[in-house]
Amino acid sequence: MRPSDTWDLPTRHLGRRTIVFERLDSTNTYAAARADDPANDGLVVVAREQTAGRGQHGRTWQAPSGSSVLLSALLFPPPALRRPALLTAWAAVAVCDAIDALAGLDARIKWPNDVLVEGRKVCGILIEQRTVSSGQWAVGSGATDVGSLATAHCPLFIVCGIGLNLNQTADQFAVAGLEQAGSLGSLTGSRYSCDQATRLLIQLLDEQYGRLLQRDVRTLESTWKQRLGLLGEPVVAECADGDRHGRLKDVGWDGVQLETSRGLVRLVPEKVRHLRPY
Ligand code: BTN
Repeated sequence: MRPSDTWDLPTRHLGRRTIVFERLDSTNTYAAARADDPANDGLVVVAREQTAGRGQHGRTWQAPSGSSVLLSALLFPPPALRRPALLTAWAAVAVCDAIDALAGLDARIKWPNDVLVEGRKVCGILIEQRTVSSGQWAVGSGATDVGSLATAHCPLFIVCGIGLNLNQTADQFAVAGLEQAGSLGSLTGSRYSCDQATRLLIQLLDEQYGRLLQRDVRTLESTWKQRLGLLGEPVVAECADGDRHGRLKDVGWDGVQLETSRGLVRLVPEKVRHLRPY
C-alpha cells in the first residue's frame, strides 16, 4: 500500500503529516500499526475508499468511494488529557463544528460520540487506545468500553477514526439497511468535496486539541454540553451496573448530574455508556 498523496497542512499538532490513500483496508488499522513510534504523534491517515473500515462494537463501516471523510489521527496525549470522556468529546465536537461550517446544519452528539443531524447519524467515531495497565488495544469510544475512570485505564496513545457521510443518497442508505443514517448531501441537496471537508475537519481537530494542550478544557466542555442538548430533560443514563433515571442538571468532566427521586446523583462520565432522552 502506497499513499497517493501527502499533505503538509499548516496545523500545529495534528495533520502536519497527513498521508492520503486512494484505497486502504482501514485508516484506523494503518494508524495503529504506526503507534510504536512516538515520532508519529499527530500523524493523520486519510483514505478515499476503505475496503475493511471498522465501526463500533466490531461492526463494519462501509462508504463508497468519494462519499465521505475517512480519516484517523494518531496521538500521544499528555497525562492530563489521557481521559476517555475528554478525547471522545474532542472528536465529536470538532465534527459538529465542521458540519456547521460546511453545511450550516445544527449537529447534535448522541452520547458518547455519534453525531446526528435531524435525528440521522451522519458520522461515526471509533477511538482505539492502548492503556497503561494492559498494554492491549481497547476498541471503543471512551465510555462504551473503558468502563471506569481508574487511572489504570488511561490511554497512552489513541487512534481516533472518523467517518463523516458527505454525498451518500437516501436510496443508498436504504439499500444498505441504514434507514436512520444520513449524509450532509442527503440533508441539504448539495455535493461536498471530500478533500476540502477532510482538511477542514483536521484543522478543527487541531485547533481544539491545541486548546486542550494549553489546559483549556472548559471551552470544550461548554460546547460539548450544548451539542448534547439534553440539559433540563428527563434522561436515562445507562451504566454497567444499571440504569439511572432523572432530570439532567449538568454535564461536565466532573460528572453527569441527575436530579432523581432520591436526590442529586453524580456519575463519572466514563461510567455512562449511553445517555438518552426518557
Ligand atoms: C461507528 O461505528 O459509529 C464508528 C465508525 C468509525 C468509522 C471510521 S472511518 C475512518 C476510520 N477507519 C476505520 O476503520 N474506522 C474509522
